[in-house]
Amino acid sequence: VDRIFSGIQPTGTPHLGNYLGAIQNWVNLQEEYSSVLYSIMDMHSLTMPKEPALLRQNILDTTAAILACGIDPKKCFLFRQSLVPEHAELAWILGCITNVPRLLRLPQWKMKRASQSNGGTVGLLTYPVLQAADILLYKSTHVPVGEDQVLHLELAQDIAQHFNKKYGEFFPVPKAILSTTKKIKSLRDPTVKMSKSDTQKLATVNIVDSPDEIVLKFRKAVTDFTSEVTYDPANRPGVSNLVSIHSAVSGLSIEEVLHQSVGLDTAHYKMVVAESVIQKFAPIRNEIKKLQEDKSHLIQVLEAGAEKAKELATPIYQEIRRLVGFQ
Ligand code: TYM
Repeated sequence: VDRIFSGIQPTGTPHLGNYLGAIQNWVNLQEEYSSVLYSIMDMHSLTMPKEPALLRQNILDTTAAILACGIDPKKCFLFRQSLVPEHAELAWILGCITNVPRLLRLPQWKMKRASQSNGGTVGLLTYPVLQAADILLYKSTHVPVGEDQVLHLELAQDIAQHFNKKYGEFFPVPKAILSTTKKIKSLRDPTVKMSKSDTQKLATVNIVDSPDEIVLKFRKAVTDFTSEVTYDPANRPGVSNLVSIHSAVSGLSIEEVLHQSVGLDTAHYKMVVAESVIQKFAPIRNEIKKLQEDKSHLIQVLEAGAEKAKELATPIYQEIRRLVGFQ
């Protein structure tokens, strides 16, 4: 049977890349599939340490945002990762069949370890093994993610195959599901992805940004010296990123968006895109604010989801224990 699994790190409210690369797809997939799990990855968040109070708050803010975007706990299991400790237990087992050099090659390790003064923690290095455990603990078959997670998914595939070879056919090899906007770029540097950790304030549009902030960020978006609006990601990454965003938030195709923009120069076009982003997220922003007022409801959603996730995970994890010889 098909089973969808995906997750997001609780870094507060999601940005445009999270939404267009993943969450929008999640909303569609909960309609199409009968077994769907989405998780707030609080254990992953510890790899870039924060104050406990901030993590606690970010978990609730991320949950409020996910719900406001249209994730419906009646159609999926929405839960907090650390409430199902089998994720960590399976990560240990999978870590014992994963080679260190394979992890050392992953670009996220190389990039993020540079920001840690201690040379990089064990958690940061083995983070993708925990990610493989998240997926495999439920024998998931499909994983909707943005392009930046594809290498991590390939690792999960390799680990599943390695386990199957060693202990007998058990895990399905999970497949990535990519959206058409699989990589939204930074508004300040269209050669890199939009990211929460970007130190340039104007690079990343958060879905709860005010209309003024959204206008400012798009007005300052880096494009090039051609004023015409075209879609040519290889040669014109800046303006093409704007076209992708515009198309994704408006629901129009790239061709339709371009057709509507004939005669506009990029300066005017930036304001058209900003307006479409403002329109798209105004109702979501209001809904997030409403949901944030009822913390106990958010906590209850995550706990109820975790109970259901645990029910799925328990028999699978029991079988894994037997396969490896713990039982
Ligand atoms: P995270 O929290 O960084 O991002 C959540 C989702 O948003 C996507 N995304 C983007 N998509 C397009 N353009 C961008 N600029 C952009 N930035 C982020 C990500 O690809 C992701 O789908 N390791 C994961 C969380 C995770 C997970 C899992 C995902 C932990 N375990 C198991 C799937 C399955 C992460 O840090 O995502």
